[in-house]
Amino acid sequence: MKPLGLNEIREKFLSFFESKGHLRMQSSSLVPQGDASLLLINSGMAPLKPYFSGEAPPPQGNRRATTCQKCIRTPDIERVGKTSRHGTFFEMLGNFSFGDYFKSEACKWAWEFCTEIMELPIDKLYVTVYAGEGDGLAGFPDEQAYDIWANEVGVDPSHLSRLGKEDNFWEIGAGPCGPCSEIYFDRGPDPKCVDPDNCKPGCDCDRYVEFWNLVFTQFNNDGSNNYTKLNQNNIDTGMGLERMACIMQGVDSLFDVDTIMNITKRVSAITGAKYGQSESVDVSLRVITDHIRSTTMMISDGILPSNEGRGYVLRRLLRRAARHGKLLGTDKPFLFEVCETVINESKAAYPELDEKKAHIIRVIKAEEERFAATIDAGMKILLDLRRT
Ligand code: SER
Repeated sequence: MKPLGLNEIREKFLSFFESKGHLRMQSSSLVPQGDASLLLINSGMAPLKPYFSGEAPPPQGNRRATTCQKCIRTPDIERVGKTSRHGTFFEMLGNFSFGDYFKSEACKWAWEFCTEIMELPIDKLYVTVYAGEGDGLAGFPDEQAYDIWANEVGVDPSHLSRLGKEDNFWEIGAGPCGPCSEIYFDRGPDPKCVDPDNCKPGCDCDRYVEFWNLVFTQFNNDGSNNYTKLNQNNIDTGMGLERMACIMQGVDSLFDVDTIMNITKRVSAITGAKYGQSESVDVSLRVITDHIRSTTMMISDGILPSNEGRGYVLRRLLRRAARHGKLLGTDKPFLFEVCETVINESKAAYPELDEKKAHIIRVIKAEEERFAATIDAGMKILLDLRRT
């Protein structure tokens, strides 16, 4: 297995699925179009929902598509910087079937990509299938997937296991959903594991890292967990690009991935703070690195800082990054310079970054200046209070 850059992995994935007859589509905007249930796009399938339900005809008449989708998830924002895995921005690679191929091809191609294109060692790969849980249509175990992995793909049964709804049934509120299979990479025993003798995929420790989720989208959830069968069987897979990059580059943390580390290096060069200097400096460097990735992408998709909705998410991320800059001892706006590195690292995949470069820089600088003015005004009030 050769070390591969994040940009190379993205390209290898998309061209692999093109070779399997998939239409390569650009990432959709982070701003959901015609979907009021989401503030920001949070998975590869989110912009494609109408194709799964059959409401919209397949894109350019093609029932197979592959994308690398920009995604933002903020529920774990407080953990960003403190762990090796949490980030608010990530890229999700996916191959999709809109009523075309189903489980058998999805499993075989995922395995082929892992073992022949990425050249991951088979003895490090583990697969889970849905064990079934509860009543009704969504309660049945996925024996079909188990059989495909064991007998068609040839995964050793000791590397195959069954997990319940929390791990192996994919849904976000209302909409297309279904049982899933996940592929894990074994990083070797984790000294922090609380039950090393029984450690297996699904364990909370860092030994088995899940990097690819294959969803067999066959049901619709009406939003109250009432499931009906969709008119067509679909495939929605999501492979975390940063996670695969960690595996291919032999690093534990997403912040050590090549393109992401280049952003941290730029922050270090501007602020003088060295990565590895102390835990608190590392946390600040990682928060800035993550947040400047998300905010640069959000602004390139037309979001502006404001006090509500998406604009508020953007403002909060920018101000958190600016505050961590202050913790590193930087008094002047600096994020507007760091965003150039984000643009350079990712513009090949997202040309809108380069097209909107001047606008992105302007928006970030203005928000940094506004934030600095707010802090100065607050400090003045505090000092005046002390004098009275
Ligand atoms: N929708 C699934 C996920 O986000 C697979 O793409 O994990």
